[in-house]
Amino acid sequence: MSTVLGYRAFGAADVQEYFDRPGPVPGPAEVLVRVAAAGVNPLDHLLRSGHVPDLNGHLPFPQVIGMEAAGTVLAAGGDVTGLQVGDRVTGFALTGAGTYAETTLLLGESTARIPDTLPWTWAATIPVAGTTALDVLDQLDLPKGASLLVNGIGGGVGIAVAQLARDRGLAVTGTGSAAKRELAAKHGAAFVDYTAGNVADQLGRFDAVVDTVGGESLRRVAPLAKKLIAVGDPSVTELGGVFVQRRLDRAGLERVAELMAGGRLDPHITGTYPLARAQEALALVESRHASGKLVISI
Ligand SMILES: NC(=O)c1ccc[n+]([C@@H]2O[C@H](COP(=O)([O-])OP(=O)(O)OC[C@H]3O[C@@H](n4cnc5c(N)ncnc54)[C@H](OP(=O)(O)O)[C@@H]3O)[C@@H](O)[C@H]2O)c1
Repeated sequence: MSTVLGYRAFGAADVQEYFDRPGPVPGPAEVLVRVAAAGVNPLDHLLRSGHVPDLNGHLPFPQVIGMEAAGTVLAAGGDVTGLQVGDRVTGFALTGAGTYAETTLLLGESTARIPDTLPWTWAATIPVAGTTALDVLDQLDLPKGASLLVNGIGGGVGIAVAQLARDRGLAVTGTGSAAKRELAAKHGAAFVDYTAGNVADQLGRFDAVVDTVGGESLRRVAPLAKKLIAVGDPSVTELGGVFVQRRLDRAGLERVAELMAGGRLDPHITGTYPLARAQEALALVESRHASGKLVISI
């Protein structure tokens, strides 16, 4: 049996409960892992709330929370290549299998081995924030010296985009509340506090805008560049922009793991919580004002 945090119906945080489940059995394309750390993401509460029925509306209850984990391979399905029992890995979970759990199932093709030196907590943030940042920058394909605005620089995706953009020689500006100013400065980004008024009035033009906030905030920054890409709000296409295309492949996970191990990307883990306190971490992310990444250490 494995302790998990999940829910038996869609709803607000009060539907969350701990329960035991029998150790899951991997299908042909899946790997069973002992979870060492799990990343906490906005999608975790969106799925629990039933806001993304295309992803989990058809799945049976109970569902377990969490999309990404780092851990040790306990067993691999017959179709999985390149991974063996005992490997240290990071990857995307089978939707509904969850990662706020002692053991879970990861998708073989969306799981990669990680360097021995990489801490579990860092590795757990690679699939969602790490590879989203990579996909965004590869898709934008900006030349060295180009200017980039990261709307929402202080969150998990924003701070990863900012670092990888600097690494590619881009000039980065970020928006956030005043509490995020220092973080932006640490990575050489100019900063605008969105609580001080309409950000568009305080900003010039950019070669590209990456939006991680969505809604009204996205609408304010959309006119500031010809190239516009969003990671959370698909209505970006109505504004002439594009939504990030996610690859979710092993190669991307490996590239981000290398960037982290090489000291070029720090996920900025601002809180590590035991499984028994996972609900506090998720509540903080649900507040929409977390800094960097929060991780469950199991
Ligand atoms: N498509 C994908 O595969 C994918 C992958 C990852 C994430 N996402 C989506 O991307 C979005 C961001 O994810 P995340 O993990 O980075 O979230 P997060 O870590 O929870 O960060 C949210 C950040 O947004 C900032 N923020 C809120 N309102 C803002 C505003 N008006 N202007 C500027 N910053 C603002 C907050 O900073 P302050 O406290 O300073 O306000 C906070 O740091 C979510 O919608 C998520 O679902 C999509």
